[in-house]
Amino acid sequence: MALALTMPMIATAQSANGPNPSASAGNAIFAERCSGCHDQAGGRAPPSSYLATRMPSEILYTLTNGEMRKQAAGLTEAQLRDVAIFLTGRDVDVQPDPAANMCPDAGTVKIDGKQWASWGHDIHNTRFENEPGFTAAQLPRLKVKWSFALPGLTGVPVVAGDHVFISSRMGKVFSISAETGCTFWSYAAASCTNGSCGLWHAMHVSLASPRRQHLLFSSR
Ligand code: HEC
Repeated sequence: MALALTMPMIATAQSANGPNPSASAGNAIFAERCSGCHDQAGGRAPPSSYLATRMPSEILYTLTNGEMRKQAAGLTEAQLRDVAIFLTGRDVDVQPDPAANMCPDAGTVKIDGKQWASWGHDIHNTRFENEPGFTAAQLPRLKVKWSFALPGLTGVPVVAGDHVFISSRMGKVFSISAETGCTFWSYAAASCTNGSCGLWHAMHVSLASPRRQHLLFSSR
């Protein structure tokens, strides 16, 4: 299986007639409210050169629902957009609808030893696949099978039977078909979910209810 997880295409905010007024307004807000932390050498806050690599929608999410909601308190919606446009140099992107390509059936979830059903692969956290089904020499021949527009940074995907489970820092969790990339389901959490998904089948749960499977993810 070859899979690729891509970001949606976005247009740039720079118009042919010169700098975008939103970007200028965002520059002033960033200088007043943000750069005291973000442009300090050696500080913990990522520099604006890194923030420029994020999606505008991801920055907006961080400022309204994510880690920076306190620092951005009091800014209007228009000001938040200006900051996102200034930082990224792009118009605010619209996330594609995850329900646009729903799977025709529910697929099968498996948790046997052949699956990558937790981020460390197994209970010993080996992060190693003994029987990948192809050799290192065959790697250059892998081809893209499908692509899926994920919102923002993501956790490590886990694979269990037909399902690829993946979480995003913009509060979304997806179950995607490993075979075709269609969406089995998606979930929007109240806050960001930038940890990895892990599919668990804990022993005490399996003794009480052998057929029950749980998908765990972090949210903060
Ligand atoms: C008091 C210091 C401080 C201020 C003020 C501040 N930030 Fe931050 N910001 C941080 C730190 C520290 C992090 C890293 C947070 C983490 O890793 O949990 C961060 C993270 C971020 C991120 C997420 C970066 C990523 O990982 O992708 C964005 C976006 C961001 N800040 C934007 C802003 C904007 C815009 C403002 C102004 C409205 C702002 N910040 C004001 C300290 C600050």
